[in-house]
Amino acid sequence: LGIQKINAAGHLTIGGIDAADLAHQFGTPLIAYDVAKIRQQIQNFNRVFEEDQVAYEVSYASKAFATVGMFQVVAQEEGHIDVVSGGELYTAIKAGFPMDKISFHGNNKSRAELEMAVDHQIGVVILDNFYEIQLLSEILAEKDQTMNVMLRLTPGISAHTHKYDQTGQEDSKFGFDIQSGQAEEALQQVLANHRMTMLGIHAHIGSQIFEVEGFVMAANKLVDLAADWQAKFGLNIQVLNVGGGFGIRYTKDDDPIAPEMFVDAIVKAVQKRVALRQFNMPAIWIEPGRSIVGPAGYSLYTVGSRKVVPGHLPYVTVDGGMGDNIRPALYQADYEAVLANRAADENEETVRVAGKYCESGDVLIQKQALPKSQPGDTLAILSTGAYGYSMASNYNRNPRPAVVFVENGQAKMVVKRESYEDLVSLDQDYI
Ligand code: LLP
Repeated sequence: LGIQKINAAGHLTIGGIDAADLAHQFGTPLIAYDVAKIRQQIQNFNRVFEEDQVAYEVSYASKAFATVGMFQVVAQEEGHIDVVSGGELYTAIKAGFPMDKISFHGNNKSRAELEMAVDHQIGVVILDNFYEIQLLSEILAEKDQTMNVMLRLTPGISAHTHKYDQTGQEDSKFGFDIQSGQAEEALQQVLANHRMTMLGIHAHIGSQIFEVEGFVMAANKLVDLAADWQAKFGLNIQVLNVGGGFGIRYTKDDDPIAPEMFVDAIVKAVQKRVALRQFNMPAIWIEPGRSIVGPAGYSLYTVGSRKVVPGHLPYVTVDGGMGDNIRPALYQADYEAVLANRAADENEETVRVAGKYCESGDVLIQKQALPKSQPGDTLAILSTGAYGYSMASNYNRNPRPAVVFVENGQAKMVVKRESYEDLVSLDQDYI
């Protein structure tokens, strides 16, 4: 956060362009991505795998930010993606994303969604429950098709920010429980189905995690299970998919290791365990979402009204809020802002940054020192690239913001701003 780039005018720059200029050119609220940062993070993950000499895939968890332009960037970087809905899959189709590099997750995929996956021959369906195995086997039989599958498992480790704890499997709505034998039962069903090819096993322990220990424990569990299944069924598990969840820095108080260092620790743990269990080294797949797009995204707003209650921190209000970034209201997530057109100004005051939505909870930042702002200033909130736009809503009938990609000093709009007409486009007269 301390390494944001400021130009000679004292303005924040994004991908080589003045953030205030972006705000004026495209309007606010605006979400701007520094595309080089996205590419860099994918490459950082790749590099660690290459150095550790292990077969791998980096599968971008597209729920963090799923748009045509984003999928095209991932395709250029030769990454995979995982989708969790027909809508994300449809977006990938529209982007021309290679279908064989798509994994499909979800704890209640519909028949229509599974049919879409089969019709487009996506890379792998990550099976989550017995109902889904049944549904998929019916679809494959009807269509006389085959599909690669993985089993999503609940490793009994649930990680949270700054800590992990072992939880009872019944706590998770996702995946097959290992302990009770559900996972093995699922395996039997898959092996009995000649239309399904068993590719690997998957576990995801949580999101915005700062410690490697939970990942290492989960990875070890996956290796143990793969080794047990090899001994018992002569089955060679080719892929261990360890999910995503690598934490990023949102404020000065956060101090995570670099996302790729989590991966290095996971790979080394797997290599060690595999040697111990005398097992063939499988490919390792990861599914990072937040760490790929989070730090690359900036939310740009225009400052409007100010309210000062004596004895309390002033409210500086911007022209967006919980409709374009629900995370502060939903998770009490912390962010940091920069007054983009006066980033170097030392005349600071401590304020709250409030949104424009009709809810008291719509406060984007609870407390931060910022240069004294005036209406019309451009305020940038940092690291909003993950789960911001993708969780945006039209609450209060505010249009969703535009999204621009900035790279090499060029800005290109990749999602148009919604218009008022868009807002009523699905409404139908009643009278
Ligand atoms: N793989 C699976 C199976 C997942 O469920 C998730 C996230 C990921 C990968 C990617 O995790 P990441 O690397 O982005 O942490 N809306 C919440 C986050 C929800 C995460 C859901 N699953 C937020 O804004 O914090």
